[in-house]
Amino acid sequence: MEGAALTRRGLLVGIGAAGGAGAMYAAMGALGLAPARQDMRFAPPQPGDFSLRGRAAAKVVILGAGVAGLTAAYELGKAGYDCTVLEARGKAGGRNLTLRGGDRLDELNGPSQEARFGEGVYFNAGPGRIAPWMVPLDYCRELGVPIETFVNNNAQAYVHTNGQSVRARTARADMYGYVAELLAKATNVGALDQKMTKDDRERLLEFLRRFGDLGPEFDYQGSPRRGFLKYPATEAGTPLPGPGRLHDVLAAGTGRAITNDFGHDQATPMFQPVGGMDAIVAKLAEAVGSDRIRTGARVTKITNLADGVEVTWNGGQIKADYCVATLPPHVLARIPHNLGAQVTAALKTPVPVAAGKIGLEYGRRWWELEDRIYGGVTETDLDITHIWYPSHDYHAEHGVLVGYYNTDEHAELYGALTPEDRRRRALTQGRKIHGDKYGKGLLSSVSIAWERQEHIQGGWVRWPSVDSAFTLLQRPSGRVYFAGDWLTQLIAWQAGAMESARGVVTHLHQRVLQSS
Ligand code: PHE
Repeated sequence: MEGAALTRRGLLVGIGAAGGAGAMYAAMGALGLAPARQDMRFAPPQPGDFSLRGRAAAKVVILGAGVAGLTAAYELGKAGYDCTVLEARGKAGGRNLTLRGGDRLDELNGPSQEARFGEGVYFNAGPGRIAPWMVPLDYCRELGVPIETFVNNNAQAYVHTNGQSVRARTARADMYGYVAELLAKATNVGALDQKMTKDDRERLLEFLRRFGDLGPEFDYQGSPRRGFLKYPATEAGTPLPGPGRLHDVLAAGTGRAITNDFGHDQATPMFQPVGGMDAIVAKLAEAVGSDRIRTGARVTKITNLADGVEVTWNGGQIKADYCVATLPPHVLARIPHNLGAQVTAALKTPVPVAAGKIGLEYGRRWWELEDRIYGGVTETDLDITHIWYPSHDYHAEHGVLVGYYNTDEHAELYGALTPEDRRRRALTQGRKIHGDKYGKGLLSSVSIAWERQEHIQGGWVRWPSVDSAFTLLQRPSGRVYFAGDWLTQLIAWQAGAMESARGVVTHLHQRVLQSS
């Protein structure tokens, strides 16, 4: 993970946080913990697998109708498995939650809110963006969920640091410009002679001139890339004043916010389902069959038996051949079971991370009309961390901004406030960037504090250290399997939940085919 400190402040996701996933796997390999590679490949169960071998598909009880649970039920169901999904919440989806007008959002130890958005307006309270290499896009294709571009990087959005806002393009031009200038000068004084031949040096200088938009003496003196007060049209434009000196540019700290989309998981283009992220949930649930998903079903006991698994919930008991437990580990750890103390200890190892978002509905898309911002993210050093502009329904009447998207201590701070105080604070912060209009024309708002969502209690988790807990839970404990983004290198991504479910499905199916 690259150090986009501003986005990642306190958002060091998962075990790989310190040394990266590669470092973690290397360490695990050295400890003999890394799972064999072929175990990870997805081999989808087919109905023919059973008709050919004369074996019956098994009965599987799946705990949790989030993205992992639904994916497991969907893939197993294709091959004729008899799946029952137990979901403690009122509806399927888990953290894949899209709020629309009329939706109610309850909160642990807090007032419940009602989303009052207008017709056709929605707010993705959980996941909001999908990288093109991620498996959710395959499910969108397979299930017929239309997708559209999610603008993750917008030169026209702002970078707000130290009380000042500049457009992302300006921040980028200045940082690239000065970095190029410095490197060009170091090249020219022979400081890099040992690393480069004369030809190398010329080629590098040619690149640096382009990279930084440097002048003839390799000086950075600003560039049209920075943007304009008045953009060129029939006449030349009016450039922005500046740039500041290198010292000022560095001191402003805007450079922290211009590398976010360098990441393999954040690079443009990214995607979102048309009409709301929960289209994925709706299609998966439809394919699984609503009769197989039992909502309001809170699991109270998991018992591994010699010939199956018994799951007790608030409405009864189910016996199945296998169980796939996809609840968050800290929630699962509190459910009585007979899987042993090591499993409990492992489930308690990952630490829940707080995460929060607020949806602000405006009756006028002033960010498009006045700021000319169509989608994208403004990065800030404020406690709101990010502002997201909608990547859909451009030029519509209404629109929803994500007024904060924060994690850890910032999310805890907002989470502890009442919904009204969260909104007030978000507006106060947003005004620092957008001025008075930010507080005007607000029609409604709704905010989520994931650590206060019943049966979820966290945005995602962080594994504090590399140890055997992670790999222990990647293997079945008797007839109970574990799945979720928290057991992958893609924590806080739906892709993690889906990949994990597919791994479990593969293993479980092989086992069923091998058992007599
Ligand atoms: N997937 C989440 C997001 O898109 C959280 C996350 C952010 C995960 C950055 C990894 C890196 O915001």
